[in-house]
Amino acid sequence: MPPIKVLIFGVTGQQGGSVAKYLLEDGPEKFKLSGLTRNTSSKHAQALAAQGVEMIQGDLDDPASYDAALKNADAVFLNTNWWQWYDGTNPDECTQKEGKQAMDVVDVCHKYGNKQLVYSSLESFDINGQKVPHTESKTYIREHIEKVGLPTVYVNATYYMSNVLGYPTEEKADGTIVLKCPLPDQSTIPQVPIEQLGLWVRLALRDWNAWKGKTIDCVTDKLSVKRITEVLSEVTGKKFDTMHVTLEWFESDEARAPNPEMHLNSYVFVKDLIDPPIKQSRGLVEGSWDFGEWCLHAGGVEKKWSLKK
Ligand SMILES: NC(=O)c1ccc[n+]([C@@H]2O[C@H](COP(=O)([O-])OP(=O)(O)OC[C@H]3O[C@@H](n4cnc5c(N)ncnc54)[C@H](OP(=O)(O)O)[C@@H]3O)[C@@H](O)[C@H]2O)c1
Repeated sequence: MPPIKVLIFGVTGQQGGSVAKYLLEDGPEKFKLSGLTRNTSSKHAQALAAQGVEMIQGDLDDPASYDAALKNADAVFLNTNWWQWYDGTNPDECTQKEGKQAMDVVDVCHKYGNKQLVYSSLESFDINGQKVPHTESKTYIREHIEKVGLPTVYVNATYYMSNVLGYPTEEKADGTIVLKCPLPDQSTIPQVPIEQLGLWVRLALRDWNAWKGKTIDCVTDKLSVKRITEVLSEVTGKKFDTMHVTLEWFESDEARAPNPEMHLNSYVFVKDLIDPPIKQSRGLVEGSWDFGEWCLHAGGVEKKWSLKK
């Protein structure tokens, strides 16, 4: 069997980078990789090229720039980034722009026929009759994929464990680190080590006929905000605490204002609306990490707070 030629969109990003990492592990006789970037001379792009990924200079806003690369591919990993245009007021614009980028790729796949698409999607949510725009955006794209009839596997990446590294922190006089995750302590967040997303994508590409048309939920843990701070305390030996936010405060305009989109999305965690298939998801792949293992192995926690000796 010749190698499967896979074109990865977003290869320099968190999701695409993980896909490249795990497909590279299988060796060039199994997968031959190319990846699209707007800047082939960036450090990240150069590092991927050194590992054998053919880096393609191109832009999702310019389908002609990746047309030939896509024509030459057997399979495509597609991830687009709704958040890059978000300024707190313009969810419709983000949905329109993300939709255009993703649907253009889908249409080029369709033009050349017989392409295997792995699309990074998200579950759709209804919160008291309100849809969450950035997850709805993925639903529109999915509807387009289904309309054109492209053979696709959907991977749902839930919520990244690495998001914890992006929360602001405040250090108190006694050394306690307050993690400024603006949710009540008992809010539960289903999570995935995004560094390992490629495990599930590789599963689909290794056995396409078994997965074609299906959705793979990528999720390995579900923790309350309080438990997240406890695990961080255990692995670092430092004392972490939550903001001890009340439900009343969470529902206030003050809490909503900084990021209305994320705030609306957070109701999913505050109201515990998801029961993710963790055991099933972990059972599909070998060596996936729960949150504690992610803290110990992924490197981000060690770099930011250092691990307990
Ligand atoms: N954070 C979460 O918890 C979470 C959970 C589930 C899903 N998601 C979704 O994940 C997506 C973000 O993915 P990520 O975390 O992998 O993003 P990321 O790390 O920020 O990477 C973005 C990638 O997109 C590429 N890119 C951006 N604009 C491009 C363009 N015009 N043309 C070509 N490439 C372009 C970048 O490549 P170059 O810069 O090299 O061109 C880069 O590789 C969002 O849609 C978000 O909704 C996030």
